Amino acid sequence: MTPDDLMFKPGLLKGERILITGGGTGLGKVMAEGFVMMGAEVYICGRRGGVLEETANELMAAHGGKVVPIACDIRVPEAISDMLDTIWSDGGALTGLVNNAAGNFISRTEDLSPRGFEAISNIVFRGSFYVTLDCGKRWLAEGKTGAVTSILTTWVWNGGPFTVPSAMSKAGLNVMTQSLAVEWGGRGIRFNAIAPGPFPTEGAWARLNPTGESSESSEYDSTNPMGRVGRMPELANLAIYLHAPGSEYVNGQTIAIDGAAYQAGGGGFGQLRDWSDEQWEAARAAIQGANARDRSKRTV
Ligand code: HXC
Ligand code: NAP
Repeated sequence: MTPDDLMFKPGLLKGERILITGGGTGLGKVMAEGFVMMGAEVYICGRRGGVLEETANELMAAHGGKVVPIACDIRVPEAISDMLDTIWSDGGALTGLVNNAAGNFISRTEDLSPRGFEAISNIVFRGSFYVTLDCGKRWLAEGKTGAVTSILTTWVWNGGPFTVPSAMSKAGLNVMTQSLAVEWGGRGIRFNAIAPGPFPTEGAWARLNPTGESSESSEYDSTNPMGRVGRMPELANLAIYLHAPGSEYVNGQTIAIDGAAYQAGGGGFGQLRDWSDEQWEAARAAIQGANARDRSKRTV
């Protein structure tokens, strides 16, 4: 991104220290870039240490500033605690957390095993809660303020056929956002969420559009009222707003950024009802290929 992509003045996030889970790739990387361009110190975590290091180096080479990569599996509470100890001892408390890490794949629900459900829910539902809880306890104990933004999907409002473990888990985080906004809001910790529509990322497309059947081009989307997918800086601008001074009274909200796809009844995978057994088999094989490629790069 260039400064012209962002609607805010450089320096807006000076003094902010923000952790983005899953910040090495996709939307997490774009938010990391936006935050560092605005002067925040940024921490990114994920399971592939090499991917995180590449991202941190790339962003610092492009924009200066401080981006710290930490390999951490958010399914493991002790690993989260170690990561937060490292961050707290590297310049003090965080001021913000973005729950962005996720796992997902399209599947007929009857084809899922309990392990398949857990592969997604342990990252999204449990892992995001574990990070939020550990950060929250630290902020409360120290009397510090904090802003938490969770990256959800519009499925939290209308369900997610063929992505049921993800939709259920994101819906849980939506309720977490609403609940903790009330419980901890008066103690200076606020909770909001972003529900993006389709933003083409390598990680999502490998698992949600694994055989390339539903994409017309990377930009065009005739099913969306605005005729296109989301642009990365649009997402970055919204995340920056939610972590910037001046947005403090926004609490307990889930904001869709989807071109009104959800209001038009879209944004999900209901159209896959017509897929044949062969199409599902091909999708599953392609997804598992992507899973194996990514797994081979994990360092934690
Ligand atoms: C059915 C499947 C499957 C598939 C895996 N499984 N793929 N079941 N259909 N296509 C099952 C496996 O068979 C196994 O169960 C279980 O899931 C665990 O599989 P593993 O490969 O061992 O899992 P693991 O290595 O832990 O990987 C987790 C993962 C993987 C979630 C499966 O995809 C991952 O790490 N993803 C991270 C990145 C990611 O998903 N990004 C996309 C986010 S996009 P059995 O019983 O056979 O052992 C997103 C977009 C939302 O959320 C909105 C868009 C509009
Ligand atoms: P992505 O690039 O695959 O991002 C997911 C990230 O989560 C990866 O960096 C992954 O890194 C990390 N991650 C997964 N499991 C983890 C774990 N156990 N511990 C730590 N990190 C973990 O996909 P994306 O499209 O950018 O998705 C980012 C977020 O946006 C997700 O919450 C997704 O649900 C949401 N979203 C995306 C879209 C879209 O259209 N792209 C739409 C709506 C919502 P490792 O594999 O290295 O751990």
